[in-house]
Amino acid sequence: MLETDGLTKIFGKLVALSDVSFKVEEGEIYGIAGPNGAGKSTLFNVVSGNYKPTSGRVMFQGSDITGFSPDRICQAGIGRTYQIPTTFQSLSVRENISVGSTFGGKDTRPVEEIIDFLQLADFADLPAKNLDLFSTKLVMLGSVLATNCKLLMLDEPMAGFSISEIERFVEVVKSVNEAWGTTIIIIEHLLDILINLTERMLILDNGSLLYLGKSSEVTSDRRVVEIYLGREYGEE
Ligand SMILES: Nc1ncnc2c1ncn2[C@@H]1O[C@H](COP(=O)(O)OP(=O)(O)O)[C@@H](O)[C@H]1O
Ligand SMILES: [Mg+2]
Repeated sequence: MLETDGLTKIFGKLVALSDVSFKVEEGEIYGIAGPNGAGKSTLFNVVSGNYKPTSGRVMFQGSDITGFSPDRICQAGIGRTYQIPTTFQSLSVRENISVGSTFGGKDTRPVEEIIDFLQLADFADLPAKNLDLFSTKLVMLGSVLATNCKLLMLDEPMAGFSISEIERFVEVVKSVNEAWGTTIIIIEHLLDILINLTERMLILDNGSLLYLGKSSEVTSDRRVVEIYLGREYGEE
């Protein structure tokens, strides 16, 4: 579904991403972890066309999409959310989701189907500015789902959630994957959540791959314990 080859992004003297190669298979939920500033969002920005890579390639469904504009990448079937919740504040929930449906091109998903799926019917006519954080993030997700994306990239969607909201959102992510077969890449710094949600994951550290492999084996990886989790974790 998605493959990167040697992706590198340099800002001035800062190497934000360094030679990152990974593959995501169709239909899987794939995890990305790493400390603040590791390059996780930069990786998304390079895949979604917000940034052009300094070097390296991005392949989507067998086609080279490196350097394509964000709208072209969206219309090719890659949707993403942003770390900072963004909705059109004065537009209603329904209108916000319709924007995604318009942006996605001709092959979009019906807005009412998304509203039902995300259980947003009670809020559909409210302006987005009236919503709490959880519902705001559902609306942002709904707008992306309306593009009918084949690959959905979620940038720390659960940041700021309570434990019960995390549990609810994890179920939403699983249900999107099951209902539409959508391939999902999710950035989340809590490893426990990724171990529960994904089969495979990578960890970035200072722009480079620290780990690439099975999620179930991540906490027994010596480098992950030493560098990411800290020595105390290994001694438990
Ligand atoms: N547009 C940009 N211009 C300059 N530096 C940037 C830009 N975007 C990100 N960076 C830098 O790249 C590094 C990685 O950032 P980011 O990908 O946002 O990390 P993460 O999402 O893992 O927290 C950070 O040092 C950040 O300051
Ligand atoms: Mg980030």
